[in-house]
Amino acid sequence: MNFAKKILCIGAGYVGGPTMAVIAAKCPQYKVTVVDVNPARIAAWNSDALPIYEPGLSDVVKQARGRNLFFSTEIDAAIDEAEIIFVSVNTPTKSFGEGAGKAADLQYWERTARNIVKVSKGDKIIIEKSTLPVRTAEAMSSILNANEKGIHFEVLSNPEFLAEGTAIADLNNPDRVLIGSQLTPEGLKARDQVVEIYANWVPRERIVTSNVWSAELSKLVANAFLAQRISSINSISELCEKTEADVTEVSRTIGMDSRIGSRFLVSSVGFGGSCFKKDILNLVYICRSYGLTEVADYWESVVEMNEHQKRRFVKNMLRAMFNTVAGKRIALFGFAFKADTGDTRESPAIDVAIQLVKEQAKVVISDPKALDNAKIDLASCIDNVEFVKDPYEAAKGAHAIAVMTEWKDYKGLDYGKIYAGMERPAFIFDGRNVLDHKALFEMGFNVFPLGQPALKHLKTV
Ligand code: UDX
Ligand code: UDX
Repeated sequence: MNFAKKILCIGAGYVGGPTMAVIAAKCPQYKVTVVDVNPARIAAWNSDALPIYEPGLSDVVKQARGRNLFFSTEIDAAIDEAEIIFVSVNTPTKSFGEGAGKAADLQYWERTARNIVKVSKGDKIIIEKSTLPVRTAEAMSSILNANEKGIHFEVLSNPEFLAEGTAIADLNNPDRVLIGSQLTPEGLKARDQVVEIYANWVPRERIVTSNVWSAELSKLVANAFLAQRISSINSISELCEKTEADVTEVSRTIGMDSRIGSRFLVSSVGFGGSCFKKDILNLVYICRSYGLTEVADYWESVVEMNEHQKRRFVKNMLRAMFNTVAGKRIALFGFAFKADTGDTRESPAIDVAIQLVKEQAKVVISDPKALDNAKIDLASCIDNVEFVKDPYEAAKGAHAIAVMTEWKDYKGLDYGKIYAGMERPAFIFDGRNVLDHKALFEMGFNVFPLGQPALKHLKTV
């Protein structure tokens, strides 16, 4: 069959997989191929058990796979064939050398770029889909265009704003699609080609174009602003616990101010996910490299507030449980960084579990989708952790339950039955404020919500 465009995505992860599946489903006239260096991942994309969990994803994949959506490990052949290449390989925070712990590690991106140069026989449009530090497109353009074959590569930035758990809905109906390009005639021509892809289903007024540097920076800044709001409300949750105020009431009131808004004001045990921390630290690193010390310190404190929120959650548990959890069974309800995903990258549950193990607690992890990832995250202390999918089983014989993820399932559990099987006194620490605290208290639990007064039967805690 003759396809109108041949599109390739390198990197079949949380971003590349769902994005390409939606493009293929919306645009049957294009051939969309997704390649990855990891053969197991590609095999999973070609099976019924997709490598990532995302509501609605499997229907979209089924609709297009084999028709105009293909998952493959034949990277070189796919590069050669494609006119438009999205690059969505991971850009983790650098773990070594200059900028360790802050700057983005660009080795996968650069290796991918060099491979594109090596196997290409004609001009191509290369699109940054990974979140990258500002001005990476320039570096990539230099590497790509240093070829001696006379091939021209136009580098664009098309950052992803989808959130995990709602990726398919976000892709189907995005607030905005951002496409950054150079403002040269070639850049604008390439930009129009990418606009044309999204215009198949996104209203034209929501497709925003900008210069390539603004596009790169907009992505980091959007995540930094969102995370900043959570750190702000989380800082207030601590103050609420010291006073008679209730963080959910404070958040409701200020959220009704349309200038502030209600989204991203839900206090939690801390924000996680692959992007917020990494992107803020990236922004901090860029600011420091320009000598903007105050700006860097300011944004760094958003991450620091998040670390503090996780630490103090465990401190509160310790204090409530008579200053020791050694030998006590503690069930963590949820391990994913938020509900509706199996992703655990930077999940606050990782730090909470590790701190509890250091306090010699017997930690039991329960989660409907994230247990496989949890086992990898907790490899360093796996002998002291149990993994039990069923929350009833996990809580059996426990001294405490700590809610880490706001899975809907946890609201509907029979807590009377759970309470009956637990040690006394029984504690619940609700790191997401999702349970019915009053009802739990009446059953006999000592309940510790976030940023709200604790409901205790004990006089001593
Ligand atoms: C990643 C980044 O974390 C994020 O900053 C960016 O916005 C998009 O890419 P994600 O899709 O969640 O997000 O990452 P991940 O699930 O790790 O997927 C990346 C994939 O690229 C992996 O499957 C990996 O095997 C693949 N990869 C990596 C390659 O195919 N080639 C490489 O050289 C390196
Ligand atoms: C985020 C951005 O939303 C998305 O636009 C960007 O492209 C990638 O990063 P994601 O990491 O999938 O997406 O999750 P998000 O829904 O933003 O949640 C991030 C973290 O913040 C989660 O741990 C979540 O539980 C926490 N959160 C979110 C809160 O603690 N309170 C809130 O009010 C909202």
